[in-house]
Amino acid sequence: MKKSLWGKTKEGVDVQLFTLTSGEIEVRLTDFGAHLVSVRTPDRKGKVADVVLGFDSLEPYVKGANGYQGAVVGRFANRIAKGQFTIDGTFYQIPVNNGPNALHGGPVGFDRAVWKAEEVANGVEFAHVSPDGDMGFPGTLTAKVRYTLAGTTLRLDYSATTDKATVLNLTNHSYFNLRGDDDGDILGHVVELSADRYTPAGSGQIPTGEIATVAGTPLDFRTPQVVGARINDDFEQLTMARGYDHNFVVSGAAGTLRRAARVSEPERGRTLTVETTEPGVQFYSGNFLNGTVTGRYGKKYEPRMGLCLETQVFPDAPNHGNFPNSVLRPGETFKSTTVFTFGVE
Ligand code: GLA
Repeated sequence: MKKSLWGKTKEGVDVQLFTLTSGEIEVRLTDFGAHLVSVRTPDRKGKVADVVLGFDSLEPYVKGANGYQGAVVGRFANRIAKGQFTIDGTFYQIPVNNGPNALHGGPVGFDRAVWKAEEVANGVEFAHVSPDGDMGFPGTLTAKVRYTLAGTTLRLDYSATTDKATVLNLTNHSYFNLRGDDDGDILGHVVELSADRYTPAGSGQIPTGEIATVAGTPLDFRTPQVVGARINDDFEQLTMARGYDHNFVVSGAAGTLRRAARVSEPERGRTLTVETTEPGVQFYSGNFLNGTVTGRYGKKYEPRMGLCLETQVFPDAPNHGNFPNSVLRPGETFKSTTVFTFGVE
């Protein structure tokens, strides 16, 4: 592992860049927001490119680039309706930052913090202590994410503890583009999701609470499907979200590592599999990338330049009794694993 000083935050705190190499792929990480900055992998012909959207310098991360590229988001990934929830009869309000709702932990989420980095075998562990009342969330929460690289497999192990009951949803918000991040959009990517069901959303992309079958809808990815084939279908769930931006219920038992998704890109031949212990995965087709930020190679990140597979508990879980539990209590240790495996075919 290589470590170098990358820059400073607005407050003057040092930020590091970490480089992991396995021989086959090279991964870059930073302690600012525990971001995954870069993943360089070869295509079918051996040509190396970066398969995640990101930036060459710290500046766009510190400024708050449009889209959470590569960030670890928390304390609660995705949306909480009106930023409101109740635990054991106590009401909490998170400041809203996405229309009337809270998104990705509120206006100053975990993606904005400098995490404490520690070198571990084949990787780096980042730790962040979020104080009691941080963005309105109860309890001092200690969150950790350990990135390790072995061969072509990048593994993320999350853990967390709290001193008061709180809600928690941690994910990594990488945008993948298996053509390479300078080489067009993701509409030709082929996606397969291990999901028979999804959680339909209503106004403001808040789940209605229903858990619906994907059968007969353009959200059926149980067999491999080209992303662009149905993305513009006249189907309310798609038109409301401007494309794919939905939580899929990962088949098999939550808490066990099982496949959530497989992605392939026919022209360059790269593949990605995503395994997780989480109950859900947000398949997001980069609909809200708005071209205001310039990525590597001077290219603007426009809509559908990358796709996210955010492993998670379900959006707005604190407000839906029928969704998986998102409450962490004192004495418990939250544990979650997501594994990204890169390949070619
Ligand atoms: C998640 C959400 C999207 C969008 C992105 C960030 O994927 O579901 O709606 O807000 O984060 O731009």
